[in-house]
Amino acid sequence: MEACGAAELGDVRMCQTVFPAHADHRGELSAGQLLKWMDATACLAAEKHAGVSCVTASMDDIQFEEAARVGQIITIKAKVNRAFKTSMEVGIKVMVQDVLTNVEKIVSVAYATYVAKPVGGGKIELEPVKLLSTEDHLEHCLAIERRRIRLGYEQIFQNLMQESNKEDTFEEEHGVSTDLTHVQSIELVQPPHANHHGNTFGGQIMAWMETVASISASCLCHSYPVLKSVNMFKFWGPSVVGDRLVFNAIVNNTFQNSVEVGVRVEAYNCEEWIKNQPRHINSAFLIFNAVNDSGELLTLPRIKPTTQDGMRRYLGAIARRRIQLIRKCILSAKVDKPSDLWEKSNQIKIWTHEEGAMLSLKVEMQVKIPSHLAFSLLSDFTLRLQWDKHFLTCKVLQAVNEDDKIYYVTSPPMTGHKPRDFVVLVSQRQPFKPSEPYIVAVKSVTLTSMPPSSDYQRSEILCAGFQIYSDSDSSCTVCYFNQVTSGVMPYFAANLTGSSKSIEDTALECMKFLEMNNSKLKLKTDF
Ligand code: COA
Ligand code: ADP
Repeated sequence: MEACGAAELGDVRMCQTVFPAHADHRGELSAGQLLKWMDATACLAAEKHAGVSCVTASMDDIQFEEAARVGQIITIKAKVNRAFKTSMEVGIKVMVQDVLTNVEKIVSVAYATYVAKPVGGGKIELEPVKLLSTEDHLEHCLAIERRRIRLGYEQIFQNLMQESNKEDTFEEEHGVSTDLTHVQSIELVQPPHANHHGNTFGGQIMAWMETVASISASCLCHSYPVLKSVNMFKFWGPSVVGDRLVFNAIVNNTFQNSVEVGVRVEAYNCEEWIKNQPRHINSAFLIFNAVNDSGELLTLPRIKPTTQDGMRRYLGAIARRRIQLIRKCILSAKVDKPSDLWEKSNQIKIWTHEEGAMLSLKVEMQVKIPSHLAFSLLSDFTLRLQWDKHFLTCKVLQAVNEDDKIYYVTSPPMTGHKPRDFVVLVSQRQPFKPSEPYIVAVKSVTLTSMPPSSDYQRSEILCAGFQIYSDSDSSCTVCYFNQVTSGVMPYFAANLTGSSKSIEDTALECMKFLEMNNSKLKLKTDF
């Protein structure tokens, strides 16, 4: 039994029994209480490393996988993964254990950044973290990639917003207004809400935000909202005992079974209160599911923004969702159930699965093209230049037989160094029975006539390809698979910061390419 065991070197652990006072009306641990415990444990881990007082700077996306119930035991482990200059990344793992069965499950894995703040001001330079295990080394490496994304987040978000301003035309004729979901609340920060220096605990602010956001969500769902995730956020400035914190929340957008609620927190001391001069403390975006009495997921109504701010926030929610989904695929990669549908194109689904050191990605697209045509277009790799921006050049090196060809492919650099090249065998197979898929399989091979050159970084495709299932005479489902070792995940992450929504874009381009060629072929046969 792991729960409540002794902490390892550098670890800080908190164990709690979930009592009714910590739970909501369904008897489940409230997310706000959990956020408070997570922040407190992580802050203590940061302070154990820094040796001085620390404040919460930011929290990366947090997903909640499992609910904890009254009577169960929560264990929170926090550990500094890497110290930078004045800031540290702390990894937080939350487990729930059932007392009767001893079964233990993961509730959440999160990453937060704490900044060392010595009393009386000034800055200290942090000592590096001692790395003892292979896992410590891995987390240490990944921490720098996560930091890159974290600090580049605002830029990626702004880029996506600019793109969406260009391309989005609003179509939601029958959506509902969100005016009734506006909730405002106020709290006075008292000593129990703050540390011994009087600084408000970040977790306390998050807990208050969660309360207000969940009320706002319930105004739209007319049922019980369950917090599924919190989008990456930053504490812009400190708050202290005596501050009045004003929380404003409203629903920004809905996505099939989930709703995004945004909350803005502003602080005032007595003087600022009179002069109406707020300090912006934090803005967070929380994603809720709505469930009925039997715990079944409800489908939420689409919303229709009625103001300019509402429209901007509606698009902002889509941009955040895109970033979150890609981050989830790339950095956590632990989800083997389908991700939710993409907002813009509900014909695309993405799955990820991690086993050992291997990360598999599966993208499924519904395409309006007969399966045999999709097969012939996707099995000719020279045509891939037309839709996949990861292909710069592609030529056939050798036709082994009609169904197996070796190609030489060049690709743009992933980390800003050399362009990459691949030598791949592409094998195409027709189905034996109508229920079976067409298959296009791709793997790297070695050809003595094409050795690696110094101009390119020779790269490897372990196992990739397409499965094409016929849905009707005129439509099919195309599944794209790719398997990579987790060693290259940091490079994906680095690439993500540059080109953000690349997975979704590539899938959309592929669909466009197939459907355009289908229309062309139809035109030809009609004449
Ligand atoms: N996520 C993670 N780290 C961040 C960050 C973000 N969004 N923004 C800044 N940082 C890091 C910087 O990278 C830097 O780290 P380094 O020294 O290891 O390189 C460190 O924070 C300090 O950055 P700097 O630019 O010197 O300071 P800043 O003016 O941006 O202030 C905070 C950053 C977090 C100290 C400041 O915003 C703050 O005091 N926020 C309130 C914190 C607080 O009180 N929280 C409790 C709840 S109110
Ligand atoms: P943005 O408006 O760009 O999203 P803000 O920091 O101003 O950023 O606000 C964060 C979120 O808080 C908004 O998306 C919205 O959901 C909510 N919010 C902000 N201001 C208000 C307000 N006056 N009333 C209701 N909700 C608000």
